[in-house]
Amino acid sequence: MDVTGTEGRSPLPIRPATVGDYEEIAQVWSASGLSVRFYGRESKQAFCRQLEQFPDLYLVATEGDRIVGVVLGSHDHRKGWINRLAVLPEYRRRGIGTALGSACDAAIRTHGIEIVAALIEPDNAASGVVFEKLGYRTDVEVRYYRKLSHPDA
Ligand SMILES: CC(C)(COP(=O)(O)OP(=O)(O)OC[C@H]1O[C@@H](n2cnc3c(N)ncnc32)[C@H](O)[C@@H]1OP(=O)(O)O)[C@@H](O)C(=O)NCCC(=O)NCCS
Repeated sequence: MDVTGTEGRSPLPIRPATVGDYEEIAQVWSASGLSVRFYGRESKQAFCRQLEQFPDLYLVATEGDRIVGVVLGSHDHRKGWINRLAVLPEYRRRGIGTALGSACDAAIRTHGIEIVAALIEPDNAASGVVFEKLGYRTDVEVRYYRKLSHPDA
């Protein structure tokens, strides 16, 4: 299934992720400078459990057999979230990140969710621009409180 961006402008095919993609997805995150919590929420077991819940919201962009970008969408029935968006460094600035974000946003909204959000660290300029291009706005100042069950969670 090709779920290439809502506006059909993705430079590469986008498809739902599968369990077999896990290792390659983890590599994309690592190569993109994102930490991978192999003993926490990005362990293979956790990934498979999440994928079962959101099979249409975990998306990858591919070139041939290679995964070059990834995004994980989710929702809690009230609000949607776009997480872990990453594109391999050598594939950036071709519109792939925007296309993945757009496809994920559209897929989340098919679940009847009318607000989709993303948490971005203040110094992550590239992500900020991508989400702004997608029409997202930072019109609410928030402080992010969290509590981990263990340090690797
Ligand atoms: C954020 C990220 C996914 C963007 O992927 P991408 O495929 O390069 O994004 P796009 O090509 O769709 O970029 C769209 C626009 O964003 C802006 N942009 C992208 N990277 C930028 C950068 N490094 N600096 C400034 N603007 C940038 C540009 O305006 C760009 O459009 P243009 O190339 O026509 O000028 C990618 O930089 C990445 O993987 N970063 C590391 C992982 C990360 O921090 N993820 C966020 C966690 S939520």
